[in-house]
Amino acid sequence: MPLPIFKSEANKNTPHPILKKTVDTLANIKFIIGVAAGKGGVGKSTVTVNLGLALKAEGFKVGIMDTDIYGPSIRKMLPEDQSPQQKGDLIIPALSQGIKMISMAYFRKEGEASAVRAPIANSLISHFIKNVLWGDLDFLLLDFPPGTGDIQITLSQQARLIGAVMVTTPQEVALCDVKKAMSLFNQVKIPIIGIVENMSYYLPDEKSDPVYLFGKEGGEKLAVQSNVPFLGQIPLDPYICQCGDLGLSIFNENSQLKTTSACAFQNLAKELVTHVTQLESEQKRGIGSFELIWKEMAEVKHE
Ligand SMILES: Nc1ncnc2c1ncn2[C@@H]1O[C@H](COP(=O)(O)OP(=O)(O)O)[C@@H](O)[C@H]1O
Ligand SMILES: [Mg+2]
Repeated sequence: MPLPIFKSEANKNTPHPILKKTVDTLANIKFIIGVAAGKGGVGKSTVTVNLGLALKAEGFKVGIMDTDIYGPSIRKMLPEDQSPQQKGDLIIPALSQGIKMISMAYFRKEGEASAVRAPIANSLISHFIKNVLWGDLDFLLLDFPPGTGDIQITLSQQARLIGAVMVTTPQEVALCDVKKAMSLFNQVKIPIIGIVENMSYYLPDEKSDPVYLFGKEGGEKLAVQSNVPFLGQIPLDPYICQCGDLGLSIFNENSQLKTTSACAFQNLAKELVTHVTQLESEQKRGIGSFELIWKEMAEVKHE
């Protein structure tokens, strides 16, 4: 039996709620990319922001979704020039240095902790995915929270990721966690775009040799082992840290320190564009999914 649809005389012209068309807020975004690590403190948010700024500098339209409900830090790094606004049920993202951005930080008082349990946090994330009006974007970067739990699974299943960029430091403890996070993406069939190694080395001054504080080339070795692209190294640089704390861009034209770090992020942006375009053309030709299906069939045969 068809569902009864009642309309009063007064609201004859407004569609019944079940007929209301939902807006596909992600429809005009070319590439949605997760920036993840499994571990906290390795520089996911720092990489997300500076990668976003580097892509913006290349002329791309960029958005950033801060999905870290419990520790949103993107608002501090990218203070808004324009606040987010509400349009009916939808949210228009904030604007900072030409980047569209949304964060849990807008929905609570400064310094206040998010005392929400996992199911609520999960539904907040779903809300962000469905109700933020991004408009046209080339790249939407999702700054993942640490861990491999419910929120990460929801993001992977609902946010239409083309793939994930994994962030690690060269240190063994970070590498272990990044392996776990990669395994989660493998399980939900999200391709790994590549690994970026953050805090790779420290340059005391321009003439000195790099100092490898957390070990050497751990990220690159992991990429080789896991058969995924290595996207590059980002130095440990107090200027990156200061810019993050002050909400400034390391690509600031006036900066005399436009240096190794800015170049490293520009190179990372170029690598990302290359690999994501390649991934897109493989997906269009059905190579990635074919390989997966073939692999699954082979595994079933051998069981
Ligand atoms: N390459 C870097 N050089 C200097 N400081 C960095 C670098 N990457 C991250 N940091 C600093 O390390 C801390 C943790 O970084 P953050 O991006 O918040 O990590 P995560 O999002 O993974 O928890 C921050 O204080 C940040 O400023
Ligand atoms: Mg973070």
